[in-house]
Parts: sequence; C-alpha cells; structure tokens
Amino acid sequence: MVHKPVSYFTIALFSLIFFLPSLLHGQPSLFYGQLDYRFYDRLCPNLPMVVRYNVWQAYKNDSRIAASLLRLHFHDCIVDGCEGSVLLDDTLDFKGEKNAPPNRNSARGFEVIDSIKADLERFCPSTVSCADILALAAREAVGLAGGPYWAVPLGRRDGLAASEQAVLDQLPSPIEPLENITAKFVSKGLDIKDVVVLSGSHEYRYSWDATTRKTTVITRRSHTVGFAQCFTFSRRLFNFKNSGNPDPALNPSFLSDLQNACPGGGSTSKLMPLDSVTTYKFDNVYYKNLMNNTGLLESDQALMTDSRMAALVNFYSMNPMAFSYDFAASMAKLGNVGVLTGQAGEIRRRCGSVN
Ligand code: HEM
Ligand SMILES: *[C@@H]1O[C@H](CO)[C@@H](O)[C@H](O)[C@H]1NC(C)=O
Ligand SMILES: *[C@@H]1O[C@H](CO)[C@@H](O)[C@H](O)[C@H]1NC(C)=O
Ligand SMILES: *[C@@H]1O[C@H](CO)[C@@H](O)[C@H](O)[C@H]1NC(C)=O
Repeated sequence: MVHKPVSYFTIALFSLIFFLPSLLHGQPSLFYGQLDYRFYDRLCPNLPMVVRYNVWQAYKNDSRIAASLLRLHFHDCIVDGCEGSVLLDDTLDFKGEKNAPPNRNSARGFEVIDSIKADLERFCPSTVSCADILALAAREAVGLAGGPYWAVPLGRRDGLAASEQAVLDQLPSPIEPLENITAKFVSKGLDIKDVVVLSGSHEYRYSWDATTRKTTVITRRSHTVGFAQCFTFSRRLFNFKNSGNPDPALNPSFLSDLQNACPGGGSTSKLMPLDSVTTYKFDNVYYKNLMNNTGLLESDQALMTDSRMAALVNFYSMNPMAFSYDFAASMAKLGNVGVLTGQAGEIRRRCGSVN
C-alpha cells in the first residue's frame, strides 16, 4: 500500500470536524466577563489551598460558618458589586456596610476572611483581593456542606469605600414585597431564576450542637440552632400586617412551632432554623418546605405567589441534581456582579480597611 502524505484537504476536513463545535459554541473560555479562571495561577499558586484549609478549620469548630461565609459573599455582591466592601470597618470618612442594620449582629465569618488574608500576605503579599477571597471561601463553604462545586473566575479588585445607605437601598429585606426583591436582583443583571435558585441557600442549615459544636442529624427540635433571628419573621406569627391574625401562608403546625419558639411577639434575636425539616447538608429541602408552606421568612414563602417562580420551586423540589447544577451557574453570575478589574480599586493588605 502506498503511503499518501496527509493532504491539505484532509487537514481541512479534520480541522472542521474537530473545531466546528467550538466555532459554533465558542471556545471553552478561560475568562468569565472581565474575570479570569487562572488569574492567580502564577501569582499565588497556594491560593486555593490556603482558602480551603482555613474554611475547613473554621467549619470543624463551627459548621454554621459555611452558611455565614456564603451569605457574606452574597451581601458583598448584591450591594455595590463584589468588591469586598462588606468587610470594611467604619471610618471617619464613611459609615460602612458591616455595621448597617441588616448586617450588624447578623453577618458572620469576618475572622475567617481575615485569617485567610493574613496567610496569603505571607505567601503572596498584596496580590489577592478580599473580594476574590470571599468568592473562593463561599465556594469552599458550600462544598464542605455537601453542595455543588463551581469554577470561580478571579481577578476582582477591592473597593475603596463602603456605604450603609447602599445596604439599606440595595440589600433585599425579608419583609419587602417579592416584586421589590426581584427588582433588586434584576437591577444587578440577575433574573427570577437566580432569585429562586440562590434563595435555596436558606436551606443551608444544620443541626448544630452547642455543647460539642458539631453538626449532626437531629431528631429533637430542642437541639437545633438555626439561622434566622425571631425578629426577622415575627410579624408573621401573631398580627400579620395588622390583620390580628398570623400569616395565612404559614402551615398551621409549623406556625404553632414558631409561636412556641418565639413567644411574646417574638421580637428577639433567638435563632430559628431557616427551614423546618432538618437536614445536615446542602440540598433541595428548601423547595420541599416551600411546597409545604413551611418556609420561614416571608420572602421565602413569597416565591410561591409568583407562578413562574412557583413552577421553579416545584421543579427543584423534585430535581436535586438540577438544583445543584443551576445553583453553581447562579453563583458564578452573582460573583460577577459589579466587579472592579484592571486598575480600578486596589488590592487591600487587610480586608477590614483600605490601604
Ligand atoms: C432573596 C432575598 C433574601 C432575603 C430577604 C434574605 C434574608 C435573610 C435573613 C433575614 C436571614 C437571617 C439573618 C439573621 O437572622 O440574622 C438570612 C440568612 C441567610 N441567608 Fe439570606 N436572604 C436573601 C437571599 C439570600 C441569598 C441570595 C443567599 C446566598 C446566595 C442567602 C444566604 C443566606 C444564608 C446562607 C443565611 C444563613 C446565614 C448564617 O446562618 O450565618 N440569602 N437571609
Ligand atoms: C469557634 O466557633 C465559635 C462560634 O461558634 C467562635 O466564637 C470561636 O471563636 C471559634 N473558635 C475558633 C478557634 O475559631
Ligand atoms: C417597593 O418598591 C416601590 C417602587 O420602587 C416603592 O415605592 C415601595 O416603597 C417599595 N416597598 C417596600 C415595602 O419597600
Ligand atoms: C409539612 O410541615 C409540617 C409542619 O412543620 C410537618 O409536620 C410535615 O412533616 C411537613 N410535611 C412534609 C412532607 O415535609
């Protein structure tokens, strides 16, 4: 048999076969908007390991920290973009986000971010932004709790100021109408699916034993420490919107549990689970609870009042895999909101203050 040299035609044909899919679908990209999946590969190769180690250490001591770190990243991104401003302490120049009413005595995990930053300043000084640390810590936290993993594009830079008013204007409140909450997400380039999918974070809660400081599957409610303070949902319990009655959207037996747990109007900071069926890991139980009218916050149960959102809730309640997949995608979108890149902002040396 005569060996025929590979012809240009063959090369062209093969190229077409191999590269057609990427021409049609776009090259598998190393970038996400302005961000770059390999941003620190050479600048700080230890980065993923340092974040993972610190989050794991914190989680071993207090498994609720996983929920808290996820929420911190959300609060960073939804208010003036993912630029680390939620971490800034108040200064003479500004009253910041950290102590704004929805965050004060509620947002947690600052020490974990600080300890990651301190380690990184030894390995790769003035290189990794606090905004990127928040995004990576949230990803590790969800992973530790048995949730999905997603690739985090990097290269965010840190903002130079923070504003309490921005929190009041931009962060969704648990007692505002669903349309307003949706509008806040939409104004950040997120959509109604992201609202439903990311709200699934509220399932993120554990039985947490105050003595052993360990998470276990619980059988007794008395062992539970949940993650919403009574006052954040108390108006549902007794005199909802001055009707003299509880919120009719509450499952009656769940209502009496809550009334017992948050007596006397419930305006306390006592913690209740964000969903009513106990789980020990990140899964789709949130949606099952909404289907059962046992979502804790008004803003959670309100998803059922919009037909498109209710359809998604129903879908995720039956499809945990779809929830995991979509959660990862929505987290990537959230992490891209209002990022600073290039020469904008700075790389903070300490996450609590600008340089
Ligand atoms: C849709 C609008 C949202 C509202 C109104 C809302 C409101 C709240 C409230 C009132 C709490 C309890 C705070 C406390 O008791 O101190 C809470 C906890 C939490 N939220 Fe949200 N949230 C929303 C969306 C989100 C999103 C999008 C995420 C994540 C991507 C998230 C993650 C969490 C987590 C993980 C907790 C528990 C935190 C902990 O235990 O430290 N939330 N949220
Ligand atoms: C362990 O967790 C508790 C909160 O549950 C916290 O107060 C304490 O500082 C943590 N200890 C360490 C060493 O992280
Ligand atoms: C909801 O948004 C509308 C339009 O921006 C505003 O007028 C209204 O005060 C908001 N409601 C609440 C309870 O925040
Ligand atoms: C619905 O909620 C009630 C009240 O908390 C609870 O007893 C019941 O087991 C729940 N049902 C499902 C299917 O989760």
